[in-house]
Amino acid sequence: MLRAGAPFNPSGSSPPASEKRMPAFQKISVLGAGNVGGSLAQRLAEMDLAAEVVLVDIIDGLPQGKALDIQESAPILGFSTRVTGSLNLEAIRDSDLVIETAGLARKPGMSRSDLLTKNAEILRGHAVAVKSFAPQSVVLVVTNPVDVMTYWFRRVCGLPPARVFGESGTLDTARFRTFVALELGVAPKDVTSFVLGTHGDTMVPILSLSSVSGVPLTRLLATDTLAEIVKRTQQGGAEIVNLLKTGSAYYARPPPRPNWPKPSAGTRSGSFR
Ligand SMILES: NC(=O)c1ccc[n+]([C@@H]2O[C@H](COP(=O)([O-])OP(=O)(O)OC[C@H]3O[C@@H](n4cnc5c(N)ncnc54)[C@H](O)[C@@H]3O)[C@@H](O)[C@H]2O)c1
Repeated sequence: MLRAGAPFNPSGSSPPASEKRMPAFQKISVLGAGNVGGSLAQRLAEMDLAAEVVLVDIIDGLPQGKALDIQESAPILGFSTRVTGSLNLEAIRDSDLVIETAGLARKPGMSRSDLLTKNAEILRGHAVAVKSFAPQSVVLVVTNPVDVMTYWFRRVCGLPPARVFGESGTLDTARFRTFVALELGVAPKDVTSFVLGTHGDTMVPILSLSSVSGVPLTRLLATDTLAEIVKRTQQGGAEIVNLLKTGSAYYARPPPRPNWPKPSAGTRSGSFR
């Protein structure tokens, strides 16, 4: 069951017992314990967002090892989340939230679409597992190509559209805001923007909704500078893939929030922003 009101404790220190509240989620399962899955599980635990976080992967030792490593940071960071790893998809049973990060990531020269066939096959198995073991869950798909994978996952698992989401808009918007902040030398948190469209080269940063502390961006930056920032945002994923060479981006990841939609909310699927 989802519960509202989890404490967000970025300092990592333990709040006094009187301030402790129930975690927002009883159980969150993260499918795929690679770069995205592992770093996400770490963030979830550090935020004390769930009573239990389960990492699932197919490489023996990887989900168990990362889970134990994260778990052992609890006394230092002051969280209470129980973190476990498993090779067995049944471990997702009764999850409130399932986050899909399993599958291939891009290498230099690849487009997100190049991952489609292989990742669709992996997600098919996971969607069937969600249908069997966690039919009440909300699902967040991260695996690329994320727009197609989100649609595919929902089709296979048969959950209502309002319970299967794809995540990318937050990341694309964060990239745009970062580039603007770097260009102007302002705090990233003071930059407001909104990036629409697919998670790919055709995404559209909405300049008319972009501002810095309320001042329209179009008054602060020249048209050609803005065009460069738009292009860099559209190719933001590839820029990191080309730098890393062996994988894709995974630090700039929004964690779930306590106020995320409950299973009964809304009627349409879409991206979290
Ligand atoms: N939507 C976004 O904004 C966004 C951002 C970054 C990455 N991604 C995507 O997320 C996915 C994961 O990226 P990553 O960097 O973590 O890759 P990674 O290679 O580090 O990790 C992927 C993990 O999936 C596991 N896996 C493969 N098949 C599996 C299965 N059947 N069951 C369970 N686990 C399985 C692998 O063993 C591996 O540990 C990629 O598709 C990547 O393109 C999306």
